[in-house]
Amino acid sequence: MSPLRQLIALAAFGLSAVDARAFFAHYMIGGIDSSTDHAERDIQDAIAVGFDGFAMNMGSPGASWLKSTVDQLFDAANGTDFGLFFSFDTLQHSSLVDHLEFFKQYRDHPNYMRAGADNFPIISSFGGYDDASDWAHYKSNSDIYLIPNLDDTNIQAYYHEPSEHLSQFNEIVDGYFSWESAWPTSTGKPANVSSVGDQAVMSFAHDAGKSYMMGISPVQYKDMTGSNWYRIGEANLPQRMEQILDLQPDFVEFISWNDGGESHYLGNLWEEAYTTAPEILEYANTDDWPHDAWQPLVTSFINAYKAGVRADEMEAASGNAVGSMWYRGMLKSCTESRPSNADAAIDSVNYAIVVPASSEGYTIRVSSGGEVLSTVEAKAGLNYAAVEGMQVGAQKVELLDSSGNVVMRAASTSDVTDSSKCNFNFNVAGP
Ligand SMILES: *[C@@H]1O[C@H](CO)[C@@H](O)[C@H](O)[C@H]1NC(C)=O
Ligand SMILES: *[C@@H]1O[C@H](CO)[C@@H](O)[C@H](O)[C@H]1NC(C)=O
Repeated sequence: MSPLRQLIALAAFGLSAVDARAFFAHYMIGGIDSSTDHAERDIQDAIAVGFDGFAMNMGSPGASWLKSTVDQLFDAANGTDFGLFFSFDTLQHSSLVDHLEFFKQYRDHPNYMRAGADNFPIISSFGGYDDASDWAHYKSNSDIYLIPNLDDTNIQAYYHEPSEHLSQFNEIVDGYFSWESAWPTSTGKPANVSSVGDQAVMSFAHDAGKSYMMGISPVQYKDMTGSNWYRIGEANLPQRMEQILDLQPDFVEFISWNDGGESHYLGNLWEEAYTTAPEILEYANTDDWPHDAWQPLVTSFINAYKAGVRADEMEAASGNAVGSMWYRGMLKSCTESRPSNADAAIDSVNYAIVVPASSEGYTIRVSSGGEVLSTVEAKAGLNYAAVEGMQVGAQKVELLDSSGNVVMRAASTSDVTDSSKCNFNFNVAGP
């Protein structure tokens, strides 16, 4: 039984939703070719990683291609434990009424994900702070578990004065979902992601008897007409894992399963979803930049989250070490198509390795362009770093045992170049 279903079973005995520990992936609904098995592969891949469900990003409710994709996903989920729920993209389509009409067609499907003591279908969102009265109207007339993202208006107040900024929503929502805190604020300088804002919103939510969902993402990089930006980045993914395991929010959403446009993805990017924006495939496609080498690391993280343990107690399912390395394909001094906030980037070789507690005397060695950049002692659980000094050429991260034997190695799949053309998407390599 998945934890959420366990929770639902528990909910029948009056226990609260906040023990759910369910783990979702944000899923961009694009056009999927119904003559392929792509919907089924996405769901099977996500189940294999350990996800409980997809938060389906709905940008165009009513579009026939969108309905086709949603139908394919529900059909593919049918017969599994995997849940699906809608995340209304209010920035792409602001009419809540349209979103909710569409939702009505699916809310009774057995795979529509439910939560809370009343076992209501979940609705989440990307944005919607300014729609308080519409949310209130709908919530008072329908049985839903509402966990919207409300950091789209006055982000400063959302994360620092939630009791003033959000108090009107306590009457309306069942929980709060934060999006922007998944990456550091862009200041043009290197920075680490922070959970200070999450802590404030989570205590506010819990004090009001609401749940809290945290976001986690490896990077954000976009290079489309009119949108060319970079959001860190290097050690963001493992740093956020550490923060989430410290805070133990009620839900977690991985951002995202398949957002090629923003270079954050863990699964496949299907080409047919990009026919209206083919330029995305030039910097994000899963033939040239596969990200699936992050999946075993995410599995270890999901297991730790569900077990309620901290990052230093993360383990690999196999009992061996697990991990990956990632790097940008060129130096950050690239000039052509240079994204905003590029100065925040570091020329680093990045890695995260989960080391078994029994592995005494292990070290992690990082090499770049044929030169060793660092050798550090490994500790039990999650080890990670953004090792500065990445050079042109091959990249390598090795885990060595106490006798100096290499027990795990992740090597670059393509060399770092001094190309002047920027692409801040990551190359991700596993053992
Ligand atoms: C799920 O699959 C079963 C078996 O193929 C089918 O009978 C049922 O109608 C499906 N349920 C939905 C909601 O599509
Ligand atoms: C980010 O965190 C790392 C430790 O993980 C630290 O070495 C580094 O100095 C931090 N960077 C900034 C800009 O604070």
